[in-house]
Amino acid sequence: MLLHAALPSSPPERAVSETSAPIGVFDSGLGGLSVLRAVRTALPHEPLVYVADSLYAPYGERDDDFIVDRTMAIGEWLVARGAKALVVACNTATAQSIALVRERLAIPLIGVEPGVKPAALVSKTRVVGVLATAVTLRSLRFQALLDRYAADCRFICQPGHGLVQAVERCDTNSPELIALLASHLQPMLDAGADTLVLGCTHYPFLDEAIRSIAGDRLRIVDTSIAIARQLERQLNAHGLRSASASAIVPRFYSTADGESQRQLAASLLGIEARVEHVVIPSQRTRPLASA
Ligand code: DGL
Repeated sequence: MLLHAALPSSPPERAVSETSAPIGVFDSGLGGLSVLRAVRTALPHEPLVYVADSLYAPYGERDDDFIVDRTMAIGEWLVARGAKALVVACNTATAQSIALVRERLAIPLIGVEPGVKPAALVSKTRVVGVLATAVTLRSLRFQALLDRYAADCRFICQPGHGLVQAVERCDTNSPELIALLASHLQPMLDAGADTLVLGCTHYPFLDEAIRSIAGDRLRIVDTSIAIARQLERQLNAHGLRSASASAIVPRFYSTADGESQRQLAASLLGIEARVEHVVIPSQRTRPLASA
């Protein structure tokens, strides 16, 4: 995970309005809910605003410029609504756009990236599988991670074609999904992998499906708990912790109809909440002026 805001030496004094402001959490779609789940567990008193850009998911099949455009637009939208910190809960958006978002948004910022380092630390067979989007796997940032942390491990990197689309329609265990997932995992298992990095925040919702295929042969590396801890450290360092003593239900927004989001939040997170539709314009999605 990445930290991009300079830390002050001691937490500044903050007005209550600042500490009670929400934390923005954003993903191309529903995957960031796996990060939101970890954040809620670690920081139950923090108000959270979640934006799913489901109308434009999957980002993993978009060009780089489109991903940067959407990430900036949603980051700016959240800042305009008073977000005190931003979690880019999407490996693909982080890989493509975190440097620019860091330059333009003046709030603590946390991105996510595949857990190459923890996987290299725990693998016994020294063979590790990585499931992530094609965009993440071909990014310079991911290549730099491998260069830095792969050590003597062999990393088998598999684009998870079709998996984001399945989660977006709340399919986490159909026979078709299991067959697709098995086709992604089998080459890793055949090569002797004992560790699997989930390099896309949609994939933690497939953990039971992964277990049904691989049993206990693959140790799953999911960084969402570590992301929540980093967020906590950032809030503490900036004096931004909420003073509320009661748990707060997150506010959910979607650029699509939000029905899958409502269902997944209810079934996998136990959160019954309305999902508000939102239109967030950006350069690449603005309707062209008629000639
Ligand atoms: N959850 C996003 C990620 O972590 C999925 C990207 C996509 O929409 O393809 O990469």
